[in-house]
Amino acid sequence: MTRISFLNGNFIDHSNAYVHIEDRGMQFADGVYEVILFYKNKLIDNEWHLDRLFRSLGKINIKLDLSYEELSDICFELCKKNKLPNASVYIQITRGATSRNQLIPTGLSPTVIITASPINLTSPDELEKGYSAVILEDIRWQRCDIKSIGLLASSLTKQKAIDMGYSEAIFIRNNVVTECSFSNLFIVDNNDNLVTKNLDNQVLAGITRRRIIGLAKELGVTVIEKPFSGEELLQAKEAFATSTTLLIRPLSKINDTIIGNGKCGQITRKLIDRYQQFLNT
Ligand code: PDD
Repeated sequence: MTRISFLNGNFIDHSNAYVHIEDRGMQFADGVYEVILFYKNKLIDNEWHLDRLFRSLGKINIKLDLSYEELSDICFELCKKNKLPNASVYIQITRGATSRNQLIPTGLSPTVIITASPINLTSPDELEKGYSAVILEDIRWQRCDIKSIGLLASSLTKQKAIDMGYSEAIFIRNNVVTECSFSNLFIVDNNDNLVTKNLDNQVLAGITRRRIIGLAKELGVTVIEKPFSGEELLQAKEAFATSTTLLIRPLSKINDTIIGNGKCGQITRKLIDRYQQFLNT
């Protein structure tokens, strides 16, 4: 079957989907992106994702002539055309193509790329075991609130974690744990509070993070959004990462420290079950 992608207004054969060599996305990472989960033929929390996409675009002054409805319809149509009941939908908007200029040109037509890829959801066994993570220096820029396509620092750090034998990289800056390289981070403290870094320019306002905070409160769990240190992380009873593609990923070992009982923690398990229920409704 031919894989179909969306490029600048058209659904086309993925193998012929090219952008210009002077696209500012390529030369300056001048663009933003979103990843939306398509699950059982439904886009999950797409209004929140599109809100964030337009917020990111606004922060770098790119104007996009597509409405929420048009974008949602394209994403949905793309999954259908690729016959994917479950997928991760990637949207990338760059400022467009022009001759290389350090200053920001006006009046360009943004380059709009949307792809749909199959997703492998984590098996219950893997979830029960939990994953390992290592704390590494946050070497990203100071505008992590923008979902920028400039992901080299994150990618290099994630690769470093993998090369060190861990599954995830957790960022730390001035002894404040910010988030993981491609996900948000939660811990459960000794009072059973769910703690995650408050939103500011150091972290991405994750859509899964927001959904999990809401579901946790419904379950009667106290949620605290505040900075926490590397020591607090290592002393946590439970820890997990959240993202559109990972959903909730329990972390059972951080650096050399076993977290809790070295498996998926109790509150994490409740949240996984509740999130799964949410996805299935
Ligand atoms: N990454 N923090 C960072 C740095 C991220 O890159 C992501 C997501 C998140 C979680 O956000 P959300 O819950 O909205 O997916 C937090 C995506 C999935 C990626 O780059 O592939």
